[in-house]
Amino acid sequence: MSIMEGTGVSISFGGLKAVSDVKFNVEEGEILGLIGPNGAGKSTFFNLLSGALTMDSGTVYFCGKKISGLKPNQICHLGLGRTFQAAKNFPGMVVYQNVMMGALFGKKGRSAAEAAKITDEVLDFVGLTELKDKNVTDIPLSAQKQLEVARALATRPKLLLLDEVMAGLNPTEVEDAMKLITRIRDSGITVIMIEHVMRAIMTICDRIIVLHHGAKIAEGTPDEISTSRTVIEIYLGES
Ligand SMILES: Nc1ncnc2c1ncn2[C@@H]1O[C@H](COP(=O)(O)OP(=O)(O)OP(=O)(O)O)[C@@H](O)[C@H]1O
Ligand SMILES: [Mg+2]
Repeated sequence: MSIMEGTGVSISFGGLKAVSDVKFNVEEGEILGLIGPNGAGKSTFFNLLSGALTMDSGTVYFCGKKISGLKPNQICHLGLGRTFQAAKNFPGMVVYQNVMMGALFGKKGRSAAEAAKITDEVLDFVGLTELKDKNVTDIPLSAQKQLEVARALATRPKLLLLDEVMAGLNPTEVEDAMKLITRIRDSGITVIMIEHVMRAIMTICDRIIVLHHGAKIAEGTPDEISTSRTVIEIYLGES
C-alpha cells in the first residue's frame, strides 16, 4: 500500500526546471533511495514534499490526504518528518532541548511530560543519551547528524525524509547510520533517503528513484539501478 504518491510534481526557479513532472509513490514500510548528480533536484523535491517550497504544479497525497498546498507545520502534524542537508540544529541549546523541540512541535496539544518521555526514548534510540547535556556546537559531526535525525523522529513521523545524513561521515560512522536507518524502518517508519554514499544506498534501500536535471530518469531495485546503462552513464560511472 502506498503511504505517499504524487504526479506532475514540478517547480522552476527562473528558467531552471529544478523538479520536472515527477510521478512517484512510496510503499508503506520501505526504504526508498533518491539519488542523482549534484543539482539534480533531490533536496528541492524534499522541500516540495514537506511544504518548505510550494510546487508550481502537481499533486501529492500522504496517507490518502492531499498535502500539496499545505504549510510545513500542517504536513509535519500529519506525520511527515524531515532532516535538512545542512543540519538545522538550534545553537545555544543543548542536545536534549533540540530533540525536545521536535517532540513538542510534532503534535498539537502534546504535554511537556509526554514530550520529555519521547525525547528520552529518541535519544536512547539514536544513541545520543551520553551527549544530551552538550551544547550542539560542541558535538562531533556524526552526533550532529544523529541529532538531526533525532529531532525529526521526536515529531513521531509515519514517513521520514533523510537528506544526506551520511555526508562527511567516516566508514564506521556510515555503518552505524545504515544500522540506525534500518532500525527506524523496522520500528514502523517509512523512509525516503537522499544519499551519495552508494554502498549504503545499494545495501539498505528496497527501491531507488534517480533524478537528473529535475526529471525522474530511472526507478527500480538496487540491482536494476546499479546495472542500468542510463544511470551508469549519467551518475554512477563504470566503477
Ligand atoms: N531556492 C532556490 N532558488 C534558485 N535556485 C535553486 C533554489 N534551490 C535550488 N535551486 C537550484 O535547483 C537545482 C537543484 O538543487 P537541489 O539542491 O535540489 O539539488 P540536489 O539534487 O539536492 O543536489 P546536491 O546533491 O548537490 O545536494 C540546482 O541547480 C540549484 O542551484
Ligand atoms: Mg541536496
